[in-house]
Amino acid sequence: MLKDQIQSLLAQVEAMQASSAEEIEALRIQYLSKKGEITALFNDFRSVPSDQKRELGQLLNQLRQEAETRINAMREQIANSQQQTANSQLDLTRTPDPIALGTRHPLSLVKEEIINIFSRIGFTVAEGPEVEDDKHVYGMLNFAPEHPARDMQDTFFIEKEPGVQKPTDILLRSHTSSVQTRVMTSQKPPIRVLCPGRVYRNEAISARAHCFFHQVEGLYIDKNVSFADLREALLYFSKEMFGAETKIRLRPSYFPFTEPSAEMDISCNICGGTGCSFCKGTGWVEILGCGMVDPNVLESCGIDSKEYSGFAFGMGVERITNLKYRVKDLRLFSENDVRFLRQFESC
Ligand code: PHE
Repeated sequence: MLKDQIQSLLAQVEAMQASSAEEIEALRIQYLSKKGEITALFNDFRSVPSDQKRELGQLLNQLRQEAETRINAMREQIANSQQQTANSQLDLTRTPDPIALGTRHPLSLVKEEIINIFSRIGFTVAEGPEVEDDKHVYGMLNFAPEHPARDMQDTFFIEKEPGVQKPTDILLRSHTSSVQTRVMTSQKPPIRVLCPGRVYRNEAISARAHCFFHQVEGLYIDKNVSFADLREALLYFSKEMFGAETKIRLRPSYFPFTEPSAEMDISCNICGGTGCSFCKGTGWVEILGCGMVDPNVLESCGIDSKEYSGFAFGMGVERITNLKYRVKDLRLFSENDVRFLRQFESC
């Protein structure tokens, strides 16, 4: 009898057990596939007398429904227990995948190298504000009020009130010599400081100029400091920075705050001094300005120029970095393109 068969299959379906996805699939095939036992009963159902069709049809549908529900429930159970085993196997003490580390900026690397080299001969670091007053940037450094040298460094002046332009004596420092005036007025000689920092000049931005850049300036004041001391200190620095074979050359120059003043070249570290496109065939590249501190500067900072003398120098960190790492376009330093910065990972 079909009814008995349905009932016995229903009992089997209710007792179904499986411990893996494969076993569940085997049960599905056994009962529900085209050749499955339940499907076979549906075939038999066609020959059932019509007065029993209603009852048996319902029973058959119930049976199929029950089989499908059980199989789906078993599938879900297996999936859950697999997830649970996966969770229990999580090792929370494992180190995470490597996290990409940032890299030091080339300008920081070079700035620090300059500081390291000079600290070996007794220089310490002094810092000062980027927003400065005229007195510390120009006045005390022997720039006459209408001296054209003031224009030499196209200065960014800061409006005291929004929209009200000059006269103002607040500005963005155009060199870190301003830190030297602050040190000279607050400390007694001997003074041996380095002044690293960002400076601002009103320049159009291009591959070769920017409206801000970085300097390291140096100042040494003591009794009997001579130009020979300046030369030796700079020669030492150049050899440490660019290699023992490096030569230096001092050319007379002019700065309001030093007398005599000079610009210093090093033998081109790319061609070794024989001449190349980088040094425009001369074998030399300029890297800094320097000189003996003008007695007027010492006096305006309260230092007796008869007792003390000193030297000062100043260099652009970008320039030194260009020479060391051959970076041709200044703008790369401030664009923060990681493809550029990553190249300094191992430095
Ligand atoms: N302050 C000068 C500049 O910014 C550099 C300099 C410093 C020159 C000290 C001589 C002595 O160009």
